[in-house]
Amino acid sequence: MSAYSSALLPTYAPYPFPVVAGEGEYILDAAGNRWLDFYGGHCVASTGHCNPAVTAAIVEQARQLIFYSAAARLPVRDAAAAALVEFAGNDMAAVFFCNSGAEANENALKIALKLTGRKKLAAFRGAFHGRTLLALSVTDAPKLRKDYGSLLAPALFLHFGDAAALAAADFSDVAAVIVEPIQSMAGVITANTAWFTALREKCTQAGALLIFDEVQTGIGRMGAPFAANFYGVTPDIITCAKGMASGVPMGGVLITARIAAQLKPGDLGSTFGGGPLACAALIATLKVIQEERLMEHATACARYLRAALGDVVHEVRGEGLLLGMNAGVQAQALKAHLFKEHILVGGSDDPAVLRLMPPLNISIHALETLLDSVGAFTAQEAA
Ligand SMILES: Cc1ncc(COP(=O)(O)O)c(C=O)c1O
Repeated sequence: MSAYSSALLPTYAPYPFPVVAGEGEYILDAAGNRWLDFYGGHCVASTGHCNPAVTAAIVEQARQLIFYSAAARLPVRDAAAAALVEFAGNDMAAVFFCNSGAEANENALKIALKLTGRKKLAAFRGAFHGRTLLALSVTDAPKLRKDYGSLLAPALFLHFGDAAALAAADFSDVAAVIVEPIQSMAGVITANTAWFTALREKCTQAGALLIFDEVQTGIGRMGAPFAANFYGVTPDIITCAKGMASGVPMGGVLITARIAAQLKPGDLGSTFGGGPLACAALIATLKVIQEERLMEHATACARYLRAALGDVVHEVRGEGLLLGMNAGVQAQALKAHLFKEHILVGGSDDPAVLRLMPPLNISIHALETLLDSVGAFTAQEAA
C-alpha cells in the first residue's frame, strides 16, 4: 500500500516518509527514525514538538471544555487575550482571535479598508501574506495570483527596505501598508530600523494604517516578543499565527487602543477563532517562552550560528531563530546532504537560500549537529 492516500488532495510535495510523532526538536517517521527539525513544521513548533507543558494544558482544557463560540465569555479566552497583550509589551491593546495567518491578514486588511474608507492597499515585492483574496492581493506571487484577476484588491508594490522608493511613494489613497518585517519566503530578507521608522512616519502622515505581518517573526522568534519591539516601531496592527499556540491552529490580530475604539461587536467574527484548546495552548506557549527565557536563547543561538556558519556559507541572514543560509549554487545539494543525515531545513523562493526556523528551545547539541553536517558538506565540496 502506498504511504499516501489518493483521497487527500496533494498540495505540497511531502517528505518521502510519513511523520508519526514529534518529540522536542525531532520528528519521528514510521520506521522509528528521528529527524532533526530545523524547519520546525514550517516555523510552527515554537516550543518544540509536543512540549509537555503545552500538551498538558491542552489535555486539561479538553477535559473541561473543548469548544464554545464567541457567544459565550470563556475565562480561558479572556486569559489568553490578556496574556498575549501583556507578552507583546508594546502599544497593542486588544486582540481578535482567528485560525490562521491568512485569516489574520484578511481581517487586518478589512479593518483598514473599513476604518479609512479607502480601497487601495500597499505591500512589498517578494511579500507572502497568504492565499485568501485580500491576503493574496498583497502577496507578490504571480503564479498564485494569475487566476483571480479583478477579484484581487488594487495594491501598490514597493521595493522592501528601499528608502528612496518609500520616500517617492504616494500613500494618500492607501488604506493599509502591510509588511513582513523579515521577508521569510522571499529568502529571509531584512530591512533596517531607519527604514521601518520612515515607513511608520510615512503611513502616519498619509493616514494609512501600518500592518506588521508577524506570522513568522512574532511570538519571540526574533529574540523579542515581536519584530515591532525589535525595531522599536509601533504599527497599528500586528498579525500573528504559526507558533503562537505551538501548533494548535490559531491566528491573532493585535490592535492598538485607537483601532479597538473604532470597532464594534459584529464587525469581526469567526466560529472557531479563540477556541478553548487554542487559547489554553497559547497561554502555555507564552509561559514556556517566558519562563525558559527562550527569547534570550534565540538571540544567543543566532549569534552562535551566524559566527560558525559565516565561515562555511556565503552569508547568514535574518534575526533570532529565523535565519537564512545563503549557500549559493550549492544550496540545493546542501539541503539534500542534510536530508540524508536526517536534518530538515526549509527552502525559500531564492534557490540559494535555505531557511532555519527551529523550535525556540533548540539545543546546543542540535546546533552542533547542524554545523558538523554543513561543515562536512563544504569540506567534501572543497576536496
Ligand atoms: C509571513 C506569512 N504571512 C501569512 C502566512 C499565511 O499563513 P497561513 O498559512 O496560516 O494562512 C504565512 C504562511 O506561511 C506567512 O509566512
